Amino acid sequence: MKNKISIFLIVISSILFSDSFEVNSPDKNLKFKITNDNGSIVYSIHKDNENIINSSSLGFMFANKPDFYQNLFLSNSSTSSFSETWEQPWGENRYVLNNYNELAVDITDTNNRTITFRVRAYNEGIGFRYEFPKSFVGDELIIQDELTSFNVNKPKPNSVWWLKAYQKDRYEYRYSQNSIDDVDASHTPLTLKTDQNHYISIHEASLLDYSSMVLRGDGQGSLSAELVAAYDGTKSKHYSSFVTPWRTIHITDNAVDLVNSMMILNLNEPNQLGDVSWVEPGIYMGIWWGMHIGENTWSTGEKLGATTDEMYRYIDFVSEHGLDGLLVEGWNIGWDGNWIENGPLFKFDQTTDFFDMPSIAEYADKKGVNLVMHNETSGHVPNYEEQMDAAYDFLEKYGVNHLKTGYVGFANGYPFLGKETARPGETGEYVYEWNHGQKMINHFTKSVIESAKRKIALNVHEPIKPTGLRRTFPNMMTREGVRGQEYNAWSDGNDPQHTTILPFTRMLGGPMDFTPGVFDVWFKGEDDPSRIRTTVAKQLALMVVLYSPLQMAADLPRNYAKRLDVFQFIKDVPSDWEESIALDGEIADFIVMARRQKNSENWFIGGITDENSRKYTLDFSFLGDGNYEAIVYKDGKNADWSSNPFPVDIEKYSVNKNSTLSLQMANGGGFAISVFKK
Ligand code: NOJ
Ligand code: CA
Repeated sequence: MKNKISIFLIVISSILFSDSFEVNSPDKNLKFKITNDNGSIVYSIHKDNENIINSSSLGFMFANKPDFYQNLFLSNSSTSSFSETWEQPWGENRYVLNNYNELAVDITDTNNRTITFRVRAYNEGIGFRYEFPKSFVGDELIIQDELTSFNVNKPKPNSVWWLKAYQKDRYEYRYSQNSIDDVDASHTPLTLKTDQNHYISIHEASLLDYSSMVLRGDGQGSLSAELVAAYDGTKSKHYSSFVTPWRTIHITDNAVDLVNSMMILNLNEPNQLGDVSWVEPGIYMGIWWGMHIGENTWSTGEKLGATTDEMYRYIDFVSEHGLDGLLVEGWNIGWDGNWIENGPLFKFDQTTDFFDMPSIAEYADKKGVNLVMHNETSGHVPNYEEQMDAAYDFLEKYGVNHLKTGYVGFANGYPFLGKETARPGETGEYVYEWNHGQKMINHFTKSVIESAKRKIALNVHEPIKPTGLRRTFPNMMTREGVRGQEYNAWSDGNDPQHTTILPFTRMLGGPMDFTPGVFDVWFKGEDDPSRIRTTVAKQLALMVVLYSPLQMAADLPRNYAKRLDVFQFIKDVPSDWEESIALDGEIADFIVMARRQKNSENWFIGGITDENSRKYTLDFSFLGDGNYEAIVYKDGKNADWSSNPFPVDIEKYSVNKNSTLSLQMANGGGFAISVFKK
């Protein structure tokens, strides 16, 4: 398919000094303008001649050098156009069009210090970043504040979806829906609607060796970048030339265009790992849900989940049903006692006495099951870094290509990580870092690079948010960074609306290990607050809607065995795609996704709704020529999430690209459809 790949590039440069420069999107609808406003540099964005982002600041304050936001001038602009179609090794779309117009312009101050400001205008949004040469950085540059702001024009009241930052459990909270004035400090992506019904989402791309961006609201409609501070209060430290992450602003006319955009991935550097054919997507089960619902334990004792016998039993089930992988937690030393506080005790190359690694690895291999091994660090990053080589060598030795890492842990009520000084048996002061500050970001990158050297792909829990680095490092497959299914197991859970917000917010950053696919949604009974607030049909739909190259089928084997007719959908659905289309949706209401299996004409469709029942007419015009068999799994008679979540009706239809199908989603329900080419 080489002919699908094309590149087109034009560059025009000028050294003119000017007070403003502009760049338009390829379709000319978006216009980005950078202006010298009395020595301050500001930018604005228009779409179809409407203001979208009003004049907003750019610049920096430093802890160890003069600041850089006043007495500035613009010069040396160059513009270029770029169009390329590149191929993902795995992903939601195999071929990705990267088409933008670029403007690079120098910003200089009266001390003759210069940075380059680079903007890429896409049809569906803007990315810009600052580039610092070594001459500016000198021996050390300490950023105290990045002064980028985002003055959204006419945000619609009560139409901002945001996730409060600086909380104990990182990104694992419900999204809020408020007016922009209510936003205090928000993680990104933050998504909003404007009064003119534009959809805007602010995020960042290619977050490497820099502190992550939180959006600070001023209570009067403006948002500004706030870099997450290190323990010493500084924001980001640099010793050689560097570029900041791209600040990204999606601007679209409808909600699903946000989902269909590949801009975040396009703003990342191409694959640096070379041949990554060893990075295998797949559907995995786990010795996992049993621990979360209290049937098993991670710690040794009667209920220990990770025993050799249990591994054999699960491997047999995964293999018999043709799924791909098996996650195992609690196989290593360190879980006994209160594991959340066991950081320094974890050993990553030592099994318990109950886990016979050589025989399990051999059996899994024989049965064609990929092991997904787990490293819980409880946030003790020095302990983990000290053992990183040994941990990854251990997995390599046993041919394990998938690793789930975890960073549960907090101190003083905060999610600080990276106990810097205290070692087991040592006294000394603990130093804590946010898991989204520069230091932890560098730790996460190190883990990606070191695991890649051993052909290990990652699923990171309690991660840094996704910013598209899977393009550069395709072994960085999926991550949590969300209030996932596990919250249904042991807390008051997620409301039916939660998963109708995620595709338009969290998931704009990248794949998510939410762990859907639970059939026994009343595992503790109807009245227990820990239950799943969806129908079973919606659990199937989530397998399609919530993209993850490693997609979990989270329930226990016995619950799948009881409903093999419904389980058939999970057996059929893949997790690697030729193409994906968000067909329709509204934030916090519903979404319908269609995806075509890689190297295949088969399609899989998932539709989900919030707490409201909803009728949806599915138009199959995305299909290719010819006839298909559609197997529909939909909410059965009188289904609803609260009192009757279990009925699933399974129906078969012959369809082609002219067909339509009317579907009724229950309250908190949905539908899943497999469409096989005849
Ligand atoms: C939290 C993770 O999200 C979950 O998947 C894991 O089982 C536990 N930590 C234990 O590591
Ligand atoms: Ca978690």
